[in-house]
Parts: sequence; structure tokens; C-alpha cells
Amino acid sequence: MAGPKSRLLSGHRPTGRLHLGHLEGTLRNWVALQDEYDCLFTIADWHALTDHFEDTSELAATVEEIAIDWIAVGLDPKHSVLFVQSHVPQHAELCLLLSMVTPLSWLERCPTWKDVLAQEDLRDEMRSYGRLGYPVLQAADILAYRADVVPVGRDQLPHLEVTREIARRFNNLYDPVFPEPQGRLGEFPAVPGLDGRKMSKSYNNSIELADSPDTIRQKLRGMFTDPAKLRRGDPGHPDICAVFALHRIYSPPERLSAIEAQCKSGELGCVACKQELAENLITALAPIHERRAELDKNRDHVRQVLGEGAKRAQVAAEETLRIVRKAMKLPAR
Ligand code: TRP
Repeated sequence: MAGPKSRLLSGHRPTGRLHLGHLEGTLRNWVALQDEYDCLFTIADWHALTDHFEDTSELAATVEEIAIDWIAVGLDPKHSVLFVQSHVPQHAELCLLLSMVTPLSWLERCPTWKDVLAQEDLRDEMRSYGRLGYPVLQAADILAYRADVVPVGRDQLPHLEVTREIARRFNNLYDPVFPEPQGRLGEFPAVPGLDGRKMSKSYNNSIELADSPDTIRQKLRGMFTDPAKLRRGDPGHPDICAVFALHRIYSPPERLSAIEAQCKSGELGCVACKQELAENLITALAPIHERRAELDKNRDHVRQVLGEGAKRAQVAAEETLRIVRKAMKLPAR
């Protein structure tokens, strides 16, 4: 008989709409892990506030769009718990308690904080207590569920290291409450953006999951290709071309070698090559677009999913908090 599944938690900061980079780098992996683990996925709106606290007018709408994207790509609310961080106040309580046992030096040496300090033009009010404490809040997200596994990108590994240090310190000081959560990196195709750099919201070079077929066609028309190939007939270099990198992900494998050969020979021009990519990408995204459109019409369902997710998360987190308060010998309630 199979034992209970290990618990997995991951999260995403709602700072903008999700794009193909998120789909290939994060979401497909999460979807695949849902069978293997007991999964919780959180939309970390408090984390978004650590640097987006001035204009919060878009925050609630972005959270809802991300929830729609998540369900549309196949995160399944029947199996996984999908919830908004700020709907589960236990994260804040645990963050506060963990902050007491977290030496400042652990946070100050974190590369993400060093990046903040290194930005010379950054206004002082952007260097907030909350931003320094970002890893403690993340530790609280993870430890509130005593999660074992945390799938993240490489940039998040320092935060996981701090999480384990905090867990160890707590376990030594009080009772052994927390497992030491392990990061889980995956192997993913690099997803170049429209300008050939890594696809990223801050470069304004992304194709969003919510983009319509026409928007996709229009965006791809303007995509950068091999700079040495100016017109049809010029030999191209698919290995350095961002358009070909996307063909690799979204075009049928049996077309790839033909595209490669015809680009190199010059027979295939960039305009036609990008048109073909656009149609293949639209086909590949069609199931996501269909589910997105349904969810878009049925926002009550999306809010209900998040409401139920918050309830399930609260029950699990409250169980941990009871153990934590007891371990710390806080006055009984
Ligand atoms: N800091 C993560 C990021 O920027 C998002 C996040 C918040 C997270 N809480 C988490 C990731 C808990 C993993 C576990 O990508």
C-alpha cells in the first residue's frame, strides 16, 4: 500500500500576467507533479507588496488572472490546493514568530537583498523591513504546511537555504516541528522572448497565456530573427535564432528538420517561418485558450476555487500553528 504522499508547496508573486516562460519553466512542471505529491500552490500577494506597495490598484485583478491561468493550464483544484497567501493569516503569524529566531545576518547576506542594496538609484523607502524579511515570509509559506518539497527556479535557492536554517534553528530551540524542505529544480527548454533575450515581463518581450491568436500573430511578425538573414535566399542560422528555439517547443517534431534545412539553405524566409510558428503556437495553446475563455466567463467559479483553497490551507496551517505555539510555550488560548 502506498504511504501518505509527501507535501509540496510552491508559489508565485502576482506582479503581472503569466507568459510562455512561466508555462514552460514552471507551470508544466507543477502540473506534472500533482499526482506524485500533495500539492499546495499559493499566489503570494504579500510578497508582491515587498516592492509593489505604492500602486496596488492592479493587484486583485492580477491575482484573479493568475488563478485563471493556473486552472487553464491544468492545476486541478480537485487535487491541489490553490489559494491566495493573504487569505491565510496563519502565514503572517508564523512569519512573525519565525522572525524572532532569524538573525539579521542571515537576511543581509541573502543575494536577493544584496541586489537591492546594489541598486544605487533605488529610493531608500524601497529598502523596507518587509523586503529584508522576504525570505522569512517565504519560509512561513513553506513551513506552515511542513512541506517537504519546493519546486522553484535557481534564483530561489537562497530563500530555501534560509528556510532550512530557520527550520533547524526552531527545531533546536523548541521541538522538532519542521522538516527541512528540499528544492526541486527541473530541466526546461529556454524560452526566448520576442527580442531574443530571455522572456521576461520586465523586458516587455513576452507572449502571454491570455494573448489572443491575432495578438500572437502580430507579436511574432515583429520577432527578432537571425540578424545575418536579411531576406529570403540568405542562408540562416537556426541554432542562434530565437524563432527556431520556439519552433523546437511548439512545432511538430517532424517539421523541425525541414524548417532547419530550409532556413539554412535560404529557401525559407523569416516572414513565412514566423507565420508558421504563429499558427503552431496558436494550435498548441488552443486547449489553454479554450479553458481560459470558459473561466473568464465564470469568474464566480474562480473565486469559489480560491475560497475553498483558502479554507483547506487554513485548516492545514492552523494545525501547524497550534503545534508551533505549543512548542514555543505561548500562553494557551
Ligand atoms: N519568491 C518566489 C518567487 O519569486 C515566490 C514564492 C512565494 C514562493 N512564496 C513561496 C516560492 C513559497 C516557493 C515557495 O518566485
